[in-house]
Amino acid sequence: MNKEKFRFYKDHPKTCSPDDFWGQVKRTVNGAPVSQDQIDLIVEAVVAELELSPEDSLLDLCCGNGALSSLLLKYCHYGLGVDFSEYLISIANRYFANPPNQTYLLQDVVEFCENPITPHRFTKMVCYGSFAYLEQDSANKLLFLLKKNFPNLKRVFIGNCPDKELLTDFYHGRLYTPGVENDPDSPIGVWRTQKEFQELAISCGWKSYIHKMPSSYYAAHYRYDVVLTNEG
Ligand SMILES: C[S@@+](CC[C@H](N)C(=O)[O-])C[C@H]1O[C@@H](n2cnc3c(N)ncnc32)[C@H](O)[C@@H]1O
Repeated sequence: MNKEKFRFYKDHPKTCSPDDFWGQVKRTVNGAPVSQDQIDLIVEAVVAELELSPEDSLLDLCCGNGALSSLLLKYCHYGLGVDFSEYLISIANRYFANPPNQTYLLQDVVEFCENPITPHRFTKMVCYGSFAYLEQDSANKLLFLLKKNFPNLKRVFIGNCPDKELLTDFYHGRLYTPGVENDPDSPIGVWRTQKEFQELAISCGWKSYIHKMPSSYYAAHYRYDVVLTNEG
């Protein structure tokens, strides 16, 4: 058995076919990839809340295989995706990279943000369906480093966060392991209340608000998004 932590998104994608992009990042319902309507809802939400425009340079942290990044990068003139899964970054480079303006980098996101490439360039940032997989120290550090090292970052979208207030409803009729909600290495990662997330954002110097997906979104019943801004 492999005892190394945080292996899921390094090993699982290899069990999917190379073009099963949503299966590789577990964007599935009952094992089947979600419909295009669901992907469209995600893209619409991120584009609207980040106010993406052709002047923007987008940093996608924990970009996975680049399938979602590529849909967002259509709205920007430049973008970089960063992920620590060698296999997913190889898929991103094979199917979605379009250098020099759309590139993908293999690196841990906290390490990247400690010593970023061209940090002045980035005006917007997205981290979709991934923040919950960071350890608490790394989560704090990431928000702090985004504030400290990226002087032109205007808006940040942290999407698909599991809502701790909805944990009991979510696990009704499912097998619940006590404490799983605090484990970044569990299938859903760390659950936070909206208030906890907003307090974390404030402690790192960000203003923030909560965004909720429409009820037609397949995970709307237990997830929310957070938008960080410098405005207000
Ligand atoms: C559920 S996938 C989401 C991928 C992509 N954002 C999307 O929405 O399609 C979670 C991703 O987070 C990445 N990840 C988790 N922790 C990371 C870290 N510390 N540094 C870089 N990538 C990380 C995993 O490799 C995986 O690709």
